[in-house]
Amino acid sequence: SIRMIRRADAATLGQAGADLVLETLAGRPAPVIGVATGSSPSPLYKELAGGTDDFSSVTWFALDEYVGLARGHAQSYAEVLRREIVEPLGLDPATMHVPDPHSEKLDEAGARYEQRIAAAGGIDLQILGIGRNGHLAFNEPGAALDSRTRLETLTEDTRRANQRFFDSLEDVPTHCLTQGLGTILEARQLLLIARGREKAEALARALTGPVTPECPASVLQLHGNVTVLADDAAASLL
Ligand code: GLP
Repeated sequence: SIRMIRRADAATLGQAGADLVLETLAGRPAPVIGVATGSSPSPLYKELAGGTDDFSSVTWFALDEYVGLARGHAQSYAEVLRREIVEPLGLDPATMHVPDPHSEKLDEAGARYEQRIAAAGGIDLQILGIGRNGHLAFNEPGAALDSRTRLETLTEDTRRANQRFFDSLEDVPTHCLTQGLGTILEARQLLLIARGREKAEALARALTGPVTPECPASVLQLHGNVTVLADDAAASLL
């Protein structure tokens, strides 16, 4: 079942998302939270940072990471998550896990990451964004519905969408490590955040269209505990 929450603006949407995170914290002794990067969830992270909650019992897992950026690159997701979550929330950096794009055996990096997730007890709440082409994490159209964390090639459309974070298209990585759709579906609860008119088509396809690899976010329909948090523009075609 998919629960839909609509909010008019980024601030109230961030509050609603933060409430869900805090519910998860209150319900578990050692909560595990999966975090997405991108502009969609940042109001939620700002809201958490503005509070006084204690996050010391939480383990965090990133959804995905670029491959090919220098270590410490400002746009690597490890750095983005450090700036947006680890530092503002005052976390121990060791509690934030990110797939390792510098590993020598990249084809094994995904399986190792999944072992870390399993060792932490699995993900309680996975925060997600949606790509305008329907991608979920970096699972691009065509990704298998039961895919696992792995090395992937980014589509041209996604590279163009993310070009705004880089000087030029050439600087946008061509590859990534991403949790698979099957991995994401194993989280006990999913929270998808969609903001802006450019997400409206993808969101409508994901929630009301057929479940198909052509729209990776349509796998949400296969999960029993999904909350979709959307602003009015993103929800305008529902
Ligand atoms: C990016 C990320 C995803 C993110 C999505 C939407 O490329 N890899 O994890 O959810 O695309 O990003 P945004 O919220 O900035 O639109």
